[in-house]
Amino acid sequence: MTNADTHDLSWDDWDELQRPTPEETEFDQVVDRALSRRGFLGGIVALGSGATAMGLGTSLLGSTSAEAMTSSRFGFKAIPIATDSTVHVPEGYTWDVLVRWGDKLFSDAADFDHATGGDAATSDRVFGENTDGMEFFSVGDHQLIAVNHEYANPKLNLPNNKDGIPTSAEDVKKLQNLQGVTVMEVSEGEHGWQVVVDSPFNRRITHNTPMRLAGPAAGHDLLKTDADPSGTQSLGTFNNCGSGKTPWGTYLTCEENFNGYFGSTDAAFAVPDDYKRYGIGLKSRYAYQMFDPRFDISKNVNEPHRAGYVVEIDPADPASTPVKRTALGRFKHENAECALGRDGHVVVYLGDDERGEFLYKFVSNGTYQAGGSTDGLLDDGTLFVAKFHDDGTGEWLALTEETTGMSQAELSIFTRMAASKVGATTMDRPEWIAVNPVAVEAYCALTNNKNRGIKTNAGGDETPVGGPNPRAENKYGQIVRWYPENDDHVDPKFKWDLFVMAGNPEVHGGDTYGGSSNINAGNMFNSPDGMAFDTKGLLWIQTDGNDSNEGDFAGQGNNQMLIGDPATGEIQRFLTGPHGSEVTGLNWSVDRRSAFAGIQHPKAPFPDGDGKLARSSIVVIKRDDNALIG
Ligand code: FEO
Ligand code: CA
Ligand code: CA
Repeated sequence: MTNADTHDLSWDDWDELQRPTPEETEFDQVVDRALSRRGFLGGIVALGSGATAMGLGTSLLGSTSAEAMTSSRFGFKAIPIATDSTVHVPEGYTWDVLVRWGDKLFSDAADFDHATGGDAATSDRVFGENTDGMEFFSVGDHQLIAVNHEYANPKLNLPNNKDGIPTSAEDVKKLQNLQGVTVMEVSEGEHGWQVVVDSPFNRRITHNTPMRLAGPAAGHDLLKTDADPSGTQSLGTFNNCGSGKTPWGTYLTCEENFNGYFGSTDAAFAVPDDYKRYGIGLKSRYAYQMFDPRFDISKNVNEPHRAGYVVEIDPADPASTPVKRTALGRFKHENAECALGRDGHVVVYLGDDERGEFLYKFVSNGTYQAGGSTDGLLDDGTLFVAKFHDDGTGEWLALTEETTGMSQAELSIFTRMAASKVGATTMDRPEWIAVNPVAVEAYCALTNNKNRGIKTNAGGDETPVGGPNPRAENKYGQIVRWYPENDDHVDPKFKWDLFVMAGNPEVHGGDTYGGSSNINAGNMFNSPDGMAFDTKGLLWIQTDGNDSNEGDFAGQGNNQMLIGDPATGEIQRFLTGPHGSEVTGLNWSVDRRSAFAGIQHPKAPFPDGDGKLARSSIVVIKRDDNALIG
């Protein structure tokens, strides 16, 4: 396969290609499939009954009942699927583009040029590529958006290069500049929402921005390089996927598929064992190593240990140095959802988005005091990993020196290995986690996992069918939720159920792949990914799945955004994205009269028309009557 072909792969498919995990025997597959059916029919129904007895709701059992429908809390009429190249929202709502890849954040940047994919020299002065997680901040009278630029689209960013492959240091620098994070001021005026060009808050953070490494791994030998013998100063943040917002008003950006940026110019280089669990190998996605030795693992063997973290950024201070919080572990971070325990401990829920990897929770040792110092809160604490039991209970297993035999620094760097040692539950690709603001419960989108019941994860952990991962070769995904014991997110025990199993009832009828009972022909979707709660406690769900509208996915259309009611299980479709795109990132203005969502990797003609380059964009959604939207 050529580089050009691999540019078109999703990140998880690319990973799978680099490092195929061992096949199980056909006999194992047959047994697993059989168990999955029996497990589902017995286990989930029993769980549903148990959940009812515990007062946990009945979402899996008839949540689309007439009673639920008449008490709907949705302020919109659900929309049908779409297969076209634009955005659709319900009647009474409108959408508009706020900002696109290549739009100026500073007036000294060049105007976007569709012939070149934008000016290379000022590529760190414009809005970056592939908008993903984002958070809204209010700083005095200013409204700021901090937003991730997850990865590059080289065929669009370097349209004059054969297959978009970088051929110079300048090309690599351009791709590095278009990724990372943007902080920008926005304001609403006569002509709607606009970026405040040249605002002193505007800032681009790229693959070369100086960062500080903090927490247990900082200064460890595994983080030292020739350029940074202290192991405490790194450059850049990579593959910034989901986001989070701390109680003290800083932005958390999460490094997901960081492995894809590192490669070797020496084909004979012996890849260290610890790289394999993370999918780091001789080949990179964008050939950085050919022109930037920092990304050449044969020259800088520790550089990949300095990526894969959650990074804290203060959007209110454009001169601040972002901090990599190693205590939150190193893996393919999706998002970082914060909550406070009853006594003020900071809880951060974290997902590792890879087939058969884990779901985590960090609990700070210190407590948050409004106005107090917060700098050490995310450096000093305990990381836990989730273990789900089939009876609807679960526990958070502490990753400590005692439980893993690893030092705090080692388990912060090789977190996946630590979690394997304690026997955590292998999950169906944990994407976003969202904490309900009006109930003590949290939700995680398990997007899909074609290897469930088929292959181990890269660490050799089995991926049995059962618990919150009830379907073999899971192509549709589900959303698991948990209820911490004692209504305290710090508590090490929880109860859980499934809020929804996505599926296709038209294709699969009543079997498990038809989805849970709150899925029907009118609201079906696949691959839940982004999630956020609005202030009413409604769960907004974004999808990143198969938008072929064929076969198993017939009738599901383009990727979309739906809204679910945790109290009833009702789910309705609110927005459809343009064909080819994924709907990413979601936030609201301070007055809650505007919602912002990302349209990532659209295909032309979105948004600029035929013959133009497709451009990832943030869209703003409003109600025509300017009423509250979230
Ligand atoms: Fe970047 Fe797992 O999504
Ligand atoms: Ca995602
Ligand atoms: Ca995804």
